Amino acid sequence: MPKTLTVHNKDGKAGYDIVLDSSFDNLAGEVKKLPVEGRRVCVVTDSTVAGLYLEEVKGILAGCCKEVDTFVFPAGEESKNLDTVQKLYETLIKARFDRRDWLVALGGGVVGDLCGYGAATYLRGISFIQIPTTLLSQVDSSIGGKTGVDFASYKNMVGAFHMPSLVYTNVAALRTLSQEQYSSGMGEVIKHGLIQDREYYDWLNVHREEIRKRDLGICLEMIARSDEIKRKVVEEDPREQGARALLNFGHTLGHALEKRLSFSMLHGHCVGLGCIGAVKISTDRGYLPKEAASSLTDLMEYLYMPVSAEGLSCEKVLEDTKSDKKMDGNAIRFILLKEIGRAFVDRTVTEEEMRAGLSAVLR
Ligand code: GLY
Repeated sequence: MPKTLTVHNKDGKAGYDIVLDSSFDNLAGEVKKLPVEGRRVCVVTDSTVAGLYLEEVKGILAGCCKEVDTFVFPAGEESKNLDTVQKLYETLIKARFDRRDWLVALGGGVVGDLCGYGAATYLRGISFIQIPTTLLSQVDSSIGGKTGVDFASYKNMVGAFHMPSLVYTNVAALRTLSQEQYSSGMGEVIKHGLIQDREYYDWLNVHREEIRKRDLGICLEMIARSDEIKRKVVEEDPREQGARALLNFGHTLGHALEKRLSFSMLHGHCVGLGCIGAVKISTDRGYLPKEAASSLTDLMEYLYMPVSAEGLSCEKVLEDTKSDKKMDGNAIRFILLKEIGRAFVDRTVTEEEMRAGLSAVLR
């Protein structure tokens, strides 16, 4: 039986379901609960995922709607831009998609963000479904309606909040992920434990071996626990006016490192490094015991995540923290930990403290 979490709107009414399953067997049943009958659906995916799951998903959707079209773009962050969105619009216009037709994002974070942005803007907004296939998209980017693309060298600079109508997660898709992609997703998973749930963080440590081996039962439980944390946060603060900012733990330094590394290191890995930096600052302030940093790097190394970055200038990374979207006027909204499982926003983190945080990861 699939496991279902429901994300509610601000008025308390059910918004959309997050369905967790270990196959696509229940996809048709879930999709048929939505008004797709007699409508066109366009599956948006990338060249990697197309070879793995497109035929299966297309076949399932064909039994739910009038027509299934596809839009496949080259895999990679380089495709996450307005040029690709323009090509998507062209495909939809040619196929005469109207306001009641649907998009389906089949893939990782790039696919979900780009397809979601296409859905948010085509004809001023059409509905879409998320079928996340990477760990990172299953625990983070498919939930909460953040959509968008990169602009010039600025990540996610153009976007919109646009909620999916369904998130269908097939955990078995983790089996086809590279080790790099899988361990990148663990950056967001570990972040969830650090910011909201000490017991979950301890559970990750206890189950590190099964997690490393991608035991599907443990992975399903892990994704369900992470999704539940994310669900609660985005329900309380869908448009990032307050509590949702806590999900940016590790992201101030993480995004700056990502940019300085010219996106050669995966997002979740950079977030992981950013978490080490933020834990160091929290430790220096006396909020966390000294061992917090070594136990975090120990867990990350066990899960094949990088714990350092080489050849970067600390000052240049610091400079990049200033162009981050998490700026509030001139102050950086830095997320720190009062204790493991309890994050808070701090606007007083100094450059000196950030230098010390970066010293924990720069070699
Ligand atoms: N990835 C952070 C958020 O969804 O707010």
